[in-house]
Amino acid sequence: MAAPARARFHRLRVTAVDRLTDDSVALTFTVPEELRELYRHAPGQHLALRRTVDGAEVRRTYSICSAAPADGAPRTLRVGVRLVDGGAFSTYAHKEIAVGDELEVMTPAGRFTLDPAPGHYAAVVGGSGITPVLSIATTLLERAPDARFCLIRSDRTTASTMFLEEVADLKDRYPDRFQLVTVLSREEQQAGPVSGRLGEERLTALLPALLPVERIAGWFLCGPFGLVQGAERALRGLGVRRTRIHEEIFHVDGGPDADRPAVVPASGPTHSTVTAQLDGRSGSWPVRDGESLLDAVLRNRADAPYACKGGVCGTCRAFLVSGSVRMDRNFALEPEETDAGYVLACQSRPTTEKVELDFDR
Ligand code: FES
Repeated sequence: MAAPARARFHRLRVTAVDRLTDDSVALTFTVPEELRELYRHAPGQHLALRRTVDGAEVRRTYSICSAAPADGAPRTLRVGVRLVDGGAFSTYAHKEIAVGDELEVMTPAGRFTLDPAPGHYAAVVGGSGITPVLSIATTLLERAPDARFCLIRSDRTTASTMFLEEVADLKDRYPDRFQLVTVLSREEQQAGPVSGRLGEERLTALLPALLPVERIAGWFLCGPFGLVQGAERALRGLGVRRTRIHEEIFHVDGGPDADRPAVVPASGPTHSTVTAQLDGRSGSWPVRDGESLLDAVLRNRADAPYACKGGVCGTCRAFLVSGSVRMDRNFALEPEETDAGYVLACQSRPTTEKVELDFDR
């Protein structure tokens, strides 16, 4: 994994703002030489951006769409930002951010990644779910000369499709190794893209016709919750092992661009204490009624890592050393990670009087 051990914010200068569609832009940041090691990233990772609005801190995560450079340390980083109705950060990105601005950008994080290696890979993406997959596909095709990639993408219309040019460029550069299938839900076509919705039933029929499903080394599913769930069910129904399926969900209620995540009242003890190891230092603090472990730690350690607070990005992942917790929701950790003892601190409520977390592990 290319990410450094600890997530940190640094101010990076915006060197390009490219309008992709009516409701999406790509922001490019320059990474100064002295910070390049810290912004090493694997294809598929994301960046959290931070700003303060009316005294309150707002963080949002956006996937990196640029390829991970062969020497590891990026000179620039490009992210895709789709406008979300009422989105505190995306509205700002669309209306205000200009070339020359400096933004607070967290070092890369996320485990929806692929280490380039020979093999045949595939992705099913919806809408802005193309963003990390563009980085994954580009990096793979550039670095693994024998690898193949099939991208199945679903969008409403051609006009609302992000990264059209970049994807067309992959087709031009790798005509034998890159396969593209576009499904448009609100546009009838005489020829070219397929129309309709991309759900479980459709994928169950479509995938075996397109690909040697049993030989695909890794599946990358990214987009709205319903699409990712439908694609996973289709793949499982076709006999694909779960360990070959990688998922990243965008836009769940209470997700990265929602105003507030849903809070489920805790049913644990009323007086709990959390002990947390963070950046080599540890402390113990009370957890208030109904509060997440992340919020309890943040009241005392402002450097605790988080981005979405919605159970989606995985930035707040911590190892549960002792005690037990109940997670409200988890769209970020794989079953192997929860089995190994990792939790999302932003979603965890204590169910024992004492809970110990290790953010450094
Ligand atoms: S901060 Fe994003 S999952 Fe917890």
